[in-house]
Amino acid sequence: AQTSVSGYVSTVNQNQQISKHIYGHFSEHLGRCIYDGFWVDKSLNVKKEGRIRMDIVDALKAINIPNLRWPGGCFADEYHWRDGIGAPNSRPKMVNTNWGGVTEDNSFGTHEFLELCKLLGTEPYISGNVGSGTVEEMSKWVEYLNFDGESPMSKLRKENGRTEPWKVSFWGVGNESWGCGGNMTAEYYADQFNRYATYSRDYPGTKLKKVAGGANSDDYNWTDVLMRKSRNQMWGLSLHYYAIPTGSWGNKGSATDFEEQEYFSSMKNALRMDELVTKHSAVMDKYDPAKKVALVVDEWGIWTNVEPGTNPGFLYQQNSLRDALVAGSTLNIFNNHSDRVKMANLAQTVNVLQALILTEKDKMLLTPTYWVFDMYKTHQEATLLPVKFTSPNYVVNNKSLPSVNISASKDKNGVVHLTMVNLDAKNNIPVKLNFEDLNWSKAVGTILTSAKFTDYNSFDQPNKIKPAAFNGASKNGDQLQLSLPPLSVVAITLN
Ligand code: AHR
Repeated sequence: AQTSVSGYVSTVNQNQQISKHIYGHFSEHLGRCIYDGFWVDKSLNVKKEGRIRMDIVDALKAINIPNLRWPGGCFADEYHWRDGIGAPNSRPKMVNTNWGGVTEDNSFGTHEFLELCKLLGTEPYISGNVGSGTVEEMSKWVEYLNFDGESPMSKLRKENGRTEPWKVSFWGVGNESWGCGGNMTAEYYADQFNRYATYSRDYPGTKLKKVAGGANSDDYNWTDVLMRKSRNQMWGLSLHYYAIPTGSWGNKGSATDFEEQEYFSSMKNALRMDELVTKHSAVMDKYDPAKKVALVVDEWGIWTNVEPGTNPGFLYQQNSLRDALVAGSTLNIFNNHSDRVKMANLAQTVNVLQALILTEKDKMLLTPTYWVFDMYKTHQEATLLPVKFTSPNYVVNNKSLPSVNISASKDKNGVVHLTMVNLDAKNNIPVKLNFEDLNWSKAVGTILTSAKFTDYNSFDQPNKIKPAAFNGASKNGDQLQLSLPPLSVVAITLN
């Protein structure tokens, strides 16, 4: 059986850019993501701007987050934006029926979200309400956000303290309209999308990038219908896919307590993203061979059982080394499909699902997933370099998956970056890579790994898993040689 990787990196005449928006994030009014995450009580003793928690902002700025999706998720189709503007004490409350039935006080609304985006230096991606909102409501939100002239909505915005329009361009038209967003058929939603999109206007200076609510996992018919009926109105079409460790929505599996078989099935389910992106792209190619419409994977990640003792509606889960391997592999898939995948959003940034950041009162920790985004940020806006190789198999109980996945890019300074993942829980995998035509003298590496796939960063040991220097790469002639340790994410820069 094959035990090593030998491959070839094409470095000449490449012109496929990896959009930075593949490295986007998602923050819903769900559990402790916004409230008691980004947006904290005035009494909490942490660095804040107003009620925005700045240790979180600083950590996210350090990994260059390119966009942030808000306010949902399922919440988006129940959210009425006018309840979230004006004096905080005059804002009506509502019940967050999707997530725990808690009372939402609307203290975090449009102005607060856009202030957060400004502090993060990131682009907002707002999802409008199709499920329970009207065309007029959506149309007026866009006017409120983006119109600079004299109009009822720009007047209201100014009365609320904001003179300039924000120029929001990423615009989601509904969310999961096949499910929590209204239980619609593809045909019905496509007609609704066309209506809502028509009245979501481009105001001078801001062309909307409208994203149609896309398929659930492998619903290729949904993509087909939307492309057939609505492709001329959309900038992008979304896709949602979560990797469930056990494959069952009932008992999804623990975030930190699992055996090798469940680790294996988690990875198998995560790698399925490659098949989904390939097949949805093929459907899109039928209608759009020039690849003008983006595939926007605006919800992805591993979804486990909640931590014992926490509110099941809050989706709070720990984040182990396994999550880092899911993130590294998925981002490699997106990079390698960047001809069609132009945007993606990990669910969800703080304290929910596969989070980058967990908080407990004034404490904050960076998860292994956070560190993967840090190691991969060199790919943002770089030129994709295709890597040809075959991987050895990682076999558990007679089932197999490819042990190694890789993506590579050349940044604007001509520097080549490779990110590699070894999913095998026991074996080192030797890697030899040749380059088409490249001058380099030294490989500088970083590694993220730990002894066990169940290891994680806790509030007692927040730095158990973090990147370290990787000194195992060498140059032999023009060939890059290294050995990938088991359960590792390795980033190499060729200087
Ligand atoms: O991310 C959690 C939920 O998953 C979102 O609200 C919804 O869109 C999806 O089903």
